[in-house]
Amino acid sequence: MTAPVPRLELGELGLDRGAHLLVKHALRGLALGAELEVVGSAPDLRLHLQAWARQQGLGWAPIPGGARLTRTAALGGRWAGAERAGESAPSGNKSVLEQPPARWGLAARGAMVEAGDLGFEFRLDRKEVLWSERGGELYRQALAAQWDPAVAIDWSAPCELPDEVEDAVVQVMTYLIENETAALLVPARFLSGIHPHFREVLQLLAVQAADEARHIEVFTRRATLKRADLGLSTQGGQASLKTLIDEPDYALAFFLLSVLGEGSFLSLLRFLHEHAPDPVTARVAELSGVDEARHVAFAMAHLKRHLAHDPHLRPRLAAAVEARFDSLREMSGLNEEVFDALVLLAAGSFQPAAIARGHAAVLGLKADMDAARRHRLEQLGFERSEAERLSSLHTRNFM
Ligand SMILES: [Fe+2]
Ligand SMILES: [Fe+2]
Repeated sequence: MTAPVPRLELGELGLDRGAHLLVKHALRGLALGAELEVVGSAPDLRLHLQAWARQQGLGWAPIPGGARLTRTAALGGRWAGAERAGESAPSGNKSVLEQPPARWGLAARGAMVEAGDLGFEFRLDRKEVLWSERGGELYRQALAAQWDPAVAIDWSAPCELPDEVEDAVVQVMTYLIENETAALLVPARFLSGIHPHFREVLQLLAVQAADEARHIEVFTRRATLKRADLGLSTQGGQASLKTLIDEPDYALAFFLLSVLGEGSFLSLLRFLHEHAPDPVTARVAELSGVDEARHVAFAMAHLKRHLAHDPHLRPRLAAAVEARFDSLREMSGLNEEVFDALVLLAAGSFQPAAIARGHAAVLGLKADMDAARRHRLEQLGFERSEAERLSSLHTRNFM
């Protein structure tokens, strides 16, 4: 004796109003080859069931008031042949693949991806180059540390400086803005080439770009607090930044930008925080410095990992510093306006004793930048003498 064919009563509900969900649900509980009778009073139900069964690859036979469907392997066809795009796991370390296939496209890590290949191309698809175990953690830190310029900075704080000191602040801000712009464009440029499997890297670089957008905003706002016009942007400064924008290699670009450039900027922002002649300048430098420390930390982390996996990387990093030095040899380095502005900003007045103090502070800043660069280079495994040499070849534009 054969078991009776199960029957699904749809009542008035038609396939055009969601009945297919009930049919699918009922079919899922059945073995392959088993049948299901579907009946109801919706107009044209039998015809609709026929079309739907063909679409789903199911067997179909007419019965009074509906149809008899046969469960086949094709039910949920798009799942058949689909593959799991790695593991979503938030720790993401072991579950992140060395080189995920491009055919996974934009699928979430951990999704089932329907078979097929739409021809996505991701230029950056190697864990060795991109990954750091710290990515997810730094991303969450970055989100928690986002600040609103309208709230975090008291723009109405007293800010009455002698004309020339205000001009110096405006000049320094002008210089900072173009450097921040380079720091925004570099991660933004690489972002579009990163395989979405490396989700945490995408997220982190996106927030990093947003950080730079905010830095541009606050430096612009400080520059125009008392003045309608900004200071001088020099060819030498821009030539230095252009070498960063033009660098096509991910590891080299972030080494030059984040380890050496933003690393030096950490010293500069600390200097500005400490020596600022007004509270607004001090605060914008302080807040930006906190963000920059994260940018430097991520670059250090992924480069350390990359170096541990690729013995050829370290000499390539050194060669990149040398090549950049050579290409900027004819350029004057930090423009005189910025240097003088930093001295005056730290001096706060034209008193000779104050200028002497400001000048000494700027020399101290340069020494501080150099020491920090050497320290980071040594952390990346460069010998002390090599770290010293490479640091001395770093662009005189600081970034
Ligand atoms: Fe920045
Ligand atoms: Fe930055």
